[in-house]
Amino acid sequence: MVVGTGYVGLTSGSSFAELGHNVVCVDIDERKINQLRQGIMPFYEPGLQDIVVRNVKERRLFFTTSLSEAIKSASVIFIAVGTPSLPNGSVDLSYVEQVAIQIGKNLIDYKIIVNKSTVPVGTADLVERIIKENMTDKKVSFDMASVPEFLREGSAVKDIFNGDRIVIGANNLEVADILMKLHEKLNIPIQITDIRSAELIKYAANSFLAMKISFINEIANIADGVGADVIEVAKGIGSDKRIGNQFLNAGIGFGGACFPKDVKGLIEIAQKSGRTLPLLEEVIRINDNQYRSVINKLLSVYPDLTGKVITILGLAFKPNTDDMRDAVSISLVRSLFEVDPSLKINVYDPIALEAAKQVIKGNVEYCNSIEEAISNSDAILIVTEWDEIVEFDYKKNINLLNNPVIIDGRNCLDLSGGRIDGFIYRSIGRKPI
Ligand code: UGA
Repeated sequence: MVVGTGYVGLTSGSSFAELGHNVVCVDIDERKINQLRQGIMPFYEPGLQDIVVRNVKERRLFFTTSLSEAIKSASVIFIAVGTPSLPNGSVDLSYVEQVAIQIGKNLIDYKIIVNKSTVPVGTADLVERIIKENMTDKKVSFDMASVPEFLREGSAVKDIFNGDRIVIGANNLEVADILMKLHEKLNIPIQITDIRSAELIKYAANSFLAMKISFINEIANIADGVGADVIEVAKGIGSDKRIGNQFLNAGIGFGGACFPKDVKGLIEIAQKSGRTLPLLEEVIRINDNQYRSVINKLLSVYPDLTGKVITILGLAFKPNTDDMRDAVSISLVRSLFEVDPSLKINVYDPIALEAAKQVIKGNVEYCNSIEEAISNSDAILIVTEWDEIVEFDYKKNINLLNNPVIIDGRNCLDLSGGRIDGFIYRSIGRKPI
């Protein structure tokens, strides 16, 4: 049984079904459950619909709103509900707590209960306590475990089947053994550890990756200052295996539901244990300011932005998702209007337009194609490197623009073969063209 049909729950649940297990996914959202039964996905994730539809048809994957029914036949329960940030940066565990209460009330025989949501260190103990408090039959036993998720939105399905490792946090070998069996067909190396270490691994992994991005963004800003090329620098350092070449793409900064929240979450975990994490505080500070480098580049081309038309290409926090949570485009638009309220801003995203309308405020024109978005524009700001945006023929469409200016916030355009001839081109940590 998997509780929660968000990115983590739905992808994990349907992947377990794909491995041959019988899976019931539970969610309190009736509309979502009805749609999932009909094969309609609640969010955009490449490849997910295929495995959901196939496994529903082959009767290995079921959807229900009734936790009390689903729990009867389950031997392992994954808690995969949302753990958003509270306004003060700490993690909101209320959904996890609600599920723990429901599990407690409906527990009639032995289960293994696994935290899959990203939860602060010590949450397994909290869930255990809540379940015990709510159990009607106090003689029933259960074990807690933690199996953190390392999937990325946009490539979640691929990541589950091709992960680098599976971390199983369990306090006894019998539980670890059952969870190993559950994952064994994935053929991915498994690390067995204690629950608290597993919980910390998740935060430490995301914080380290976020740190790599803020590091390379700092190097990009230096490269700008000294006339070096950050792509060359990333290649040069990344080919050292001790450093590794991934997550060294300089750009407009990281967003999404994980990195900003989890880095702040780890800082909070440190504070609660009487320590500080100045390194990670700086990672966040650098990231919060990174979008300004794009605005500064725009201002270097147009010191006066009065009445200008600016096009933003890509709104989602990364390609292949419609997720707008903590997307850099939100701060960018807000800040552009602060710099000059007379701006006209056209925006385009292949998938995230509807989601963006809920969170991007101000006088923004939502466009249905790149051509429409760049028409009569004075500058293109590339924020998300969707294939469609990267592969677009800017040179062929140069006449649609009022002024041929591209600020590439993801260093994603191919500059070879005269593809941007005629444009004023600025990117992050590379020489101006
Ligand atoms: C991240 C982690 O990569 C996953 O391993 C983890 O499981 C997940 O969080 C989670 O905790 O659930 P995700 O947030 O989906 O996955 O996306 P990433 O691909 O990691 O990208 C995060 C942000 O960093 C994006 O805004 C992306 O544009 C940015 N990024 C990434 C860079 O700016 N530069 C890079 O080199 C890589």
